[in-house]
Amino acid sequence: MAQHPLIQKFEQAGQGHVFAFFAQLPPAAQEQLLAEAGEIDLDEIAHLTKTLLQKGAASVNLQGLEPSPYELRPESGGNAADWARAKATGEAALRAGRVAAFTVAGGQGTRLGYDGPKGTYPVTPLKQKTLFQVFAEKIRAAGLRYGKAIHWFIMTSHQNHAATEAFFKEHKFFGLAETHVHFFRQGRMPAVDLQGKILLDSKQSIAMSPDGHGGSLRALERSGALDLMEREGIDTISYFQVDNPLVRAIDPAFIGWHIERRSEMSSKMVPKAYPEEKLGHFCVQDGKLVVIEYSDLPMEMQRETDSNGRLRYLAGSIAIHVLDRQFVRRMAAGGEGVALPFHRADKKIPTIDAQGNPVKPEKANGVKFEMFVFDALPFAKNPVVIETLRADDFSPVKNAEGVDSPKTCREDQLRQFARWLKANGAEIATDDTGLPSVAIEVGPLFGYDEDSFAESWARLSEKPRLAEGLYLG
Ligand code: UTP
Repeated sequence: MAQHPLIQKFEQAGQGHVFAFFAQLPPAAQEQLLAEAGEIDLDEIAHLTKTLLQKGAASVNLQGLEPSPYELRPESGGNAADWARAKATGEAALRAGRVAAFTVAGGQGTRLGYDGPKGTYPVTPLKQKTLFQVFAEKIRAAGLRYGKAIHWFIMTSHQNHAATEAFFKEHKFFGLAETHVHFFRQGRMPAVDLQGKILLDSKQSIAMSPDGHGGSLRALERSGALDLMEREGIDTISYFQVDNPLVRAIDPAFIGWHIERRSEMSSKMVPKAYPEEKLGHFCVQDGKLVVIEYSDLPMEMQRETDSNGRLRYLAGSIAIHVLDRQFVRRMAAGGEGVALPFHRADKKIPTIDAQGNPVKPEKANGVKFEMFVFDALPFAKNPVVIETLRADDFSPVKNAEGVDSPKTCREDQLRQFARWLKANGAEIATDDTGLPSVAIEVGPLFGYDEDSFAESWARLSEKPRLAEGLYLG
């Protein structure tokens, strides 16, 4: 029997082992393996092996790197009138229906070790609302506030797509119109061993993994999401990650800065809390905005201080952006020099040996290739970085314990609720970190930021007693 042309191509590329068990497989399994293999760009894998795996692979270029400027908040010395104007501009865009929410939810969430799409993880202190429910309610509340329902785009992966859709159906889209919630799958990449050989995870399937949050740009285009946005008159995309329930999912001031500056991609920064904090750094290089990962910026640079004793590389990236729709289209189209680079991540990748027996590696045995969305920044015109308050925007659930865990996130939510209550005259006992002594929760439909909370609070004719277990929703 003549060999399948795809198998020949793999053999020519030195990847013939992918089909080592092909002859033993039933026809449906053969089809599956061929379909997966058909997704792979062998030239791209060869190029990545050469540039990222082989000795002498280029390290990150730090030539001419400078800290990036950013817009200071009024509390830090920024111009209050500029912020007020930006907010008004953002609110006008929301009223005009120009803004969509976009959540990247295709990650594997291995550090949290939770079985299921990360968005289905319960995070709130009392009601145990899931991440998806928190975002859904914030988006719904903002839509009600501005008199225009907001479309929500959610990027999933092959692994979690069906489970994510089923979760939303089961929960009736948390009160959002089904027509306004759009799921689409991101692309994937094969994992390779340390020599660049594609890894199988069984005799009939390739070890494939999502292509990183940077894959969102081409997935937005390929899925038709950008066309849908265009038809709906949406030109501004509010991007956030699935693991951060504190995020101002719809932030008029941020949207306003982006629009007023005619920025194609905007970002939020927080001042790094300490030099070793694991955040990317906003920097400028050759006149372009770049993010340098913490693992790529030498520790002596991370520790550098300015004449005021402040960290020089202070601006930490918290993965919150506003993207211009046409910019995403341009990035997705690619072309001469316009492409997000892949990064390598060394991982323990379950695979099979030459006899087809399962192997569970104890240490990293292979590499996954991922794109990062912040690598689009150097391509963006007029990129703007604004300062935000960490306490009101950033407390991700990354790890099962310790920093950025369900516990720290729960406490940060409690602190935020207590701050809103105190700012509106409620008496609530807190410790010196602002943590209230009673467990309370504010549902996003009551208040999703300080303004919406203040309005709902003012409307209460009788103020509730702040007892353990109080829920304002
Ligand atoms: P992380 O970098 O925290 O990765 O993703 P992760 O896969 O969720 O978690 P670990 O590293 O396995 O523990 C940050 C955000 O980017 C999304 C995630 O869903 C999360 O919202 N993401 C990441 C994607 O959407 N796709 C990817 O391929 C990777």
